[in-house]
Amino acid sequence: MKNVCVIGAGTMGNGIAHVFAQNGYSVSLVDVSQDQLNKAMSTITKNLDRQVSKNAITAQTKESALKNIVTHTSLATAVKSSDLVVEAATENLNLKLDIFRQIDENATANCILASNTSSISITKIASVTSAPERVIGMHFMNPVPVMKLVEIINGYATKKEVTDNIINLSRQLGKIPCVVNDYPGFIANRILMPMINEAIYSLYEGVAGVEEIDTVMKLGMAHPMGPLQLADFIGLDVCLSILNVLHEGFGNPKYAPCPLLVNMVTAKRLGIKTGEGFYDYAQGSKDLIVSEAFKK
Ligand code: CAA
Repeated sequence: MKNVCVIGAGTMGNGIAHVFAQNGYSVSLVDVSQDQLNKAMSTITKNLDRQVSKNAITAQTKESALKNIVTHTSLATAVKSSDLVVEAATENLNLKLDIFRQIDENATANCILASNTSSISITKIASVTSAPERVIGMHFMNPVPVMKLVEIINGYATKKEVTDNIINLSRQLGKIPCVVNDYPGFIANRILMPMINEAIYSLYEGVAGVEEIDTVMKLGMAHPMGPLQLADFIGLDVCLSILNVLHEGFGNPKYAPCPLLVNMVTAKRLGIKTGEGFYDYAQGSKDLIVSEAFKK
């Protein structure tokens, strides 16, 4: 595999493009918005600069990584010459089904079709394509250049040869692959989201404040971020949509999203991306300042 097409130039898409390009793959980065593509290229440049300044990569690697990425607003053109497509669009079922129909129409017969979905069924996504055996989940973690895991999700029809290819490819990217089956939330979010939801319930019920909840988990369980800070980092809308997938998928009330999470999403307090969630990011995201709404 040499030519990789990444669809969606948001946080996950730009991180995925960055990692492939840094490892010598030719990347076509696709988004409907040229403005989003420009933003993605500037984020990738900034993150590569950070790696150069930490001596994690050379300035030459940075330059060749940037040269390896070409941006496109036309999905059809970008997909045509690709050996692998990684879809990293917004976490919305109908949008993903529509994108996969288009990829299926334009990709060559040998191209592997991967989705970076965090919770949508790979079997469902594969069902709108003409060859579900070549569809697979390739779930990267944020920040993609830093996090080692790639959660690989086998759809109901995914061929072993396709899974083996994606395992090898993940290793070539310096990542550690972990293969799981296609059930709601897979493994990462089936375990992570109930923890985040429970942290939000603990706040909602007044058991403890934002700082206390995060400090207990950071210092007591050696998590790099507390669950509320992590929810802000992931985006509260993304957390809510994954909890809804778990709740509907299993029909079990234990996954019901906390009403406080629902309210915050409705009020557009989505975390870092909107400047406020459990913490206030008006001064940036380095120093944690508890949001006014949760100050005692
Ligand atoms: N690109 C490149 N390098 C980056 C980076 C980026 N976007 N972000 C951070 N880094 C590097 C830094 O340069 C630094 O490198 P050194 O160790 O060489 O100094 C290192 O990562 C640590 O960064 P910082 O010093 O800036 O900050 P930190 O120590 O607080 O770490 C963090 C930041 C890596 C994000 C850490 O807080 C962390 O691991 N948090 C938890 C992240 C997590 O759980 N991610 C999974 C979210 S769930 C998900 O993604 C899936 C889903 O479906 C919802």
